Amino acid sequence: MSSVLFPGSFDPVTKGHLDVIFRLRKIFPKVVVLVADSPRKNYFFARSERLQLLKKAIGNRPGIEVRSSDDLTVKFARKMGINIIARSVRTVADWEYEYAMADANRKLAPTIETLFIMADARYGFISSSLVREVAAYGKSTSAFVPANVVAALKQKLKTKKVES
Ligand code: COA
Repeated sequence: MSSVLFPGSFDPVTKGHLDVIFRLRKIFPKVVVLVADSPRKNYFFARSERLQLLKKAIGNRPGIEVRSSDDLTVKFARKMGINIIARSVRTVADWEYEYAMADANRKLAPTIETLFIMADARYGFISSSLVREVAAYGKSTSAFVPANVVAALKQKLKTKKVES
C-alpha cells in the first residue's frame, strides 16, 4: 500500500474529516485529499475556498497533499497513480449512497478499489450542512470545525448578507 485518495466536497472541512485524514495517514505513507464537486450540491464555499480552508486546517504535515480537480474522481486517481479511494462512513444512513458511488467508480475503473473507514463516534453525526446551519443561526461552530473554518463561516455569512 502506498497512496490513498480521500475525495469529498469539504463544504466546509469538519473535525470529523480531519480525524479521518490523520487516521488514513497512519495507515498510508501518502494521503491525497481531493476537493471535488458533486453535481447534486450547491456549494456554500467555492472550490478554491474549500481547498484553502482544508490546506490551512491540515497545515504542513508530511505525507498529506491537498488538491482539487473537476475531473471524475477515478480519472484523477489514475492520473496520480493511486489505486485506492477512501470514503468515510458515519452511520448506516451513509451506506446506500456510498455503496452506489463505490459501485459506479468500480464500473468506471475496475482496478481502483474503494476502502471504507468508520468515522470516530465523536464525529458520527457531524456533517458540513449541519455546521453551515449552526453557523447561519449565529451559534458557535467551534465544536465541529477547526478555528480557521469558524472564522471563514462568519466572514462568508457576513458577505452573503451584504450581497442579499
Ligand atoms: N466527518 C464529518 N462529515 C462527514 C464525514 C466525517 N467523517 N464523512 C462524511 N461526512 C459528510 C460530509 O460533511 C458531507 O455532508 P453534507 O452532505 O452535509 O455536505 C457528506 O458526509 C458527504 O459528503 P462528501 O464525503 O464530501 O461527499 P459528497 O457526496 O459531497 O462528494 C464527491 C462526493 C465530491 C467525492 C463525488 O461527488 C465525486 O467523486 N465527484 C467528482 C465527480 C465524480 O467522480 N463523480 C462520480 C462519482 S460516482
